[in-house]
Amino acid sequence: MILLHLMQLCVFFLLFLVVVTFFHQVQASNFGSFSRKQVGIYPTMNDGICASSVIVHGYKCQEIQVVTKDGYILSIQRIPEGRNEARNERTKKQPVILQHGVLVDGMTWLMNSPEQDLPLILADKGFDVWIANTRGTKHSRRHVSLDPSNPVFWNWSWDELVTYDLPAVFDYVYIQTGEKINYVGHSLGTLIALASFSERKLVNQLKSAALLSPIAYLSHMNTALGVIAAKSFVGEITTLIGLAEFNPKGLPLEAFLKAVCDNPGIDCYDLMTELTGKNCCLNSSTVDRFLMNEPQSTSTKNMVHLAQTVRHGVLAKFNYVRPDYNILHYGQVTPPIYNLSNIPHDLPLFISYGGQDALSDVRDVENLLDQLKLHDVDKRSVQFVKEYAHADYIMGFNAKDIVYNSVISFFNSQGNT
Ligand SMILES: *[C@@H]1O[C@H](CO)[C@@H](O)[C@H](O)[C@H]1NC(C)=O
Ligand SMILES: *[C@@H]1O[C@H](CO)[C@@H](O)[C@H](O)[C@H]1NC(C)=O
Ligand SMILES: *[C@@H]1O[C@H](CO)[C@@H](O)[C@H](O)[C@H]1NC(C)=O
Repeated sequence: MILLHLMQLCVFFLLFLVVVTFFHQVQASNFGSFSRKQVGIYPTMNDGICASSVIVHGYKCQEIQVVTKDGYILSIQRIPEGRNEARNERTKKQPVILQHGVLVDGMTWLMNSPEQDLPLILADKGFDVWIANTRGTKHSRRHVSLDPSNPVFWNWSWDELVTYDLPAVFDYVYIQTGEKINYVGHSLGTLIALASFSERKLVNQLKSAALLSPIAYLSHMNTALGVIAAKSFVGEITTLIGLAEFNPKGLPLEAFLKAVCDNPGIDCYDLMTELTGKNCCLNSSTVDRFLMNEPQSTSTKNMVHLAQTVRHGVLAKFNYVRPDYNILHYGQVTPPIYNLSNIPHDLPLFISYGGQDALSDVRDVENLLDQLKLHDVDKRSVQFVKEYAHADYIMGFNAKDIVYNSVISFFNSQGNT
């Protein structure tokens, strides 16, 4: 118990450090020049996720870049076939897009052995797998004209992931494959999907969606991360001061984390617990690998938007707080809501949530399910995993048996339309 409190204190302290430091950085960078860099050709990376985490396991993998309508260059990894597959050009494969959550990137799907990682399992089961990486993460830090050192590069929240990132990835995959797409989202990857569907975006290209650890309502979120989000980000971002990279890794956090983790009697398993709930099924070597790659950057504006979601209990667009700013952006005093009742009732949805999840709290998920109560019964499949917390869904050593097999059965049970 004492250890737990100590950890809580540590997490608070280091997150506080992060907040203080980045506000300093932002202020400093405001005086810098706004250099504009023209990028013409986007070379394929040899040090990307394919090379480090897919090809090493004997799978084919292709690094792809797509450009969003607002100019961000996103990297995607395509795993077109299973490990021991005899190539057959005639076989039509179902594409599946995997969308990670906030403060991590596509690599989080690849932290275990090939037999345990969702992308590789899907490839072996005959799917054409596409791993997305949202703007700001390690391999998606480019823009046609803005440099990440320019605060304007970070002028976005999850609204822009709905408006630009997801459509760019969906359009690309749809054009390349000519097939309707299955989607797997985790955490923020579920929020942006639900928000999109509520605006009837993507639905014409979608075959079915699996939402793991869904977040739509965050009122009961109960972690240090949630508390810091709600309390520290005051939600006022009306000037350039609020535009900045939120980089937990480049700041003292990383050194601090390392120091904390190296302490006798404290291992990083506790830290994961602190941040995501009591994960039942993480291998400690997996957690170590995770901490080597994550956390990843996002924008401060995105964190503020998430904080608004926590505090306001409604799913709405970014709130500029000042009524005149909201009118300027939306033509109304309060930001428009994403009304989840508008999600097409016949859209096949698989939802899995965990009883120990501190970020996707059971009560919030039940609120979400209530919003979806008019959904066609045979198009909605809900799974509750009592012992699972947030990270078990992507890195649990038994996630294949408990969750992924059900996802695959669900995808296969949805007839071709
Ligand atoms: C940030 O984005 C908003 C909304 O797209 C826009 O109105 C605003 O002018 C942008 N701010 C800067 C500094 O570019
Ligand atoms: C945990 O990781 C180690 C080292 O990678 C591996 O040998 C072991 O099989 C893993 N345990 C489980 C249950 O996956
Ligand atoms: C959401 O949409 C439903 C059905 O269109 C409507 O009855 C409900 O009032 C809407 N909710 C809000 C908060 O606007």
